[in-house]
Amino acid sequence: MPQQQQRAVFVREIKKPVELGTRDIPTPEDGQVLIKVTATMLLPHDAYGRDMGLFMYDKLPYIPGANVAGVIEQIQGSSAFKKGDHIFGMSDFETPLPDQQGLQEYAVLNNDDIAKVPEGFSDDQAVSLPVNIITSFLALFDSKYGLGFPSPWESGSESSVKDKSLVIVGGGSSTGKLAIQLAKIAGFGQITTIAGLKNEAELMKMGATHVVDRHGTNEGVVSQVHTITGKDVTLVLDTVNQSFELATSLLSKNKESKLVTFLPNYQPEALAEQRPKAKGIFVEGGNPRLEPYRQHFWKHVTEWLAAGKILPTSYWTLDGLENVDKINAVLDGYMAGSGGAQLIVHP
Ligand SMILES: NC(=O)c1ccc[n+]([C@@H]2O[C@H](COP(=O)([O-])OP(=O)(O)OC[C@H]3O[C@@H](n4cnc5c(N)ncnc54)[C@H](OP(=O)(O)O)[C@@H]3O)[C@@H](O)[C@H]2O)c1
Repeated sequence: MPQQQQRAVFVREIKKPVELGTRDIPTPEDGQVLIKVTATMLLPHDAYGRDMGLFMYDKLPYIPGANVAGVIEQIQGSSAFKKGDHIFGMSDFETPLPDQQGLQEYAVLNNDDIAKVPEGFSDDQAVSLPVNIITSFLALFDSKYGLGFPSPWESGSESSVKDKSLVIVGGGSSTGKLAIQLAKIAGFGQITTIAGLKNEAELMKMGATHVVDRHGTNEGVVSQVHTITGKDVTLVLDTVNQSFELATSLLSKNKESKLVTFLPNYQPEALAEQRPKAKGIFVEGGNPRLEPYRQHFWKHVTEWLAAGKILPTSYWTLDGLENVDKINAVLDGYMAGSGGAQLIVHP
């Protein structure tokens, strides 16, 4: 029997606009669900995929959208979910076919990579979280790809962070805001963030103890941070910068320290030269790296969301996959680093 067709938005060639097309509706395998996609949030990495081939150069044609929400239509094998549940989660974009991606009408997702949208929340609110919260979570709590503090649900975890001072560069970004909220949930004693002051009140509400204006010279910003933290800063997370000059200058010259980044282009040699006792860590927020935490992670993310401890990131919405010109314009904006609310598409 021929497969039923659906509409999807494809990257067919790197550096070319995404295009509307059709493909088969994927069939769920054991341990997967088929969903009617209700919402997918596009992020900067989707723009890097279209224009630089990130995660997709060897799999074209591929489909953007790793943050996915929808209604379960079919379940294969045993599952904690049922037909009709609204779920959200992250696609496995390492798979060769784009069956799990969001910019199509139907997708399959792994049971392990999804959670139910909590009561009282919309699919849009929930779909704003997965990639960014996974990345910020790993940055703080994974021992291999992050700072390695115990996950907040581990008993006694608070005692290992309550005296710690964490500096987050780029607290105004979506990942930065989630890192601030996760650090607050964990119980970090001091959370200093470097961000635009227009968001100061929001960032303090989320858990920042100090907000330093990001608009100024590096020397000025470092001096303001050191007035708050002292000069022996040992934990820095930079969520936004292509250059790590600022983050490096923040670090202690005397003590062992860690610089965690979400962008792979920090220069380990420069860091080693300027701060020989510093360790640079690049965090990549994919599902495989979440493996040791998955079972607890999704349960706690939904609880934190429901309890208002994690807020959805800011977004705007667009109905219909046919709006490819608008989708391309948004990806252009991400490439230009425009910042601000991110786009959720309702296929
Ligand atoms: N490695 C991974 O797995 C992974 C995962 C997720 C994201 N990322 C990457 O992380 C980066 C951030 O993503 P995002 O979605 O969180 O970004 P975003 O929400 O688009 O962040 C933009 C905001 O960051 C702030 N900002 C911009 N330049 C800054 C600077 N020089 N210093 C401090 N703050 C600055 C601005 O907010 P204010 O004006 O309010 O300060 C701006 O509105 C992107 O490059 C993304 O691709 C990587």
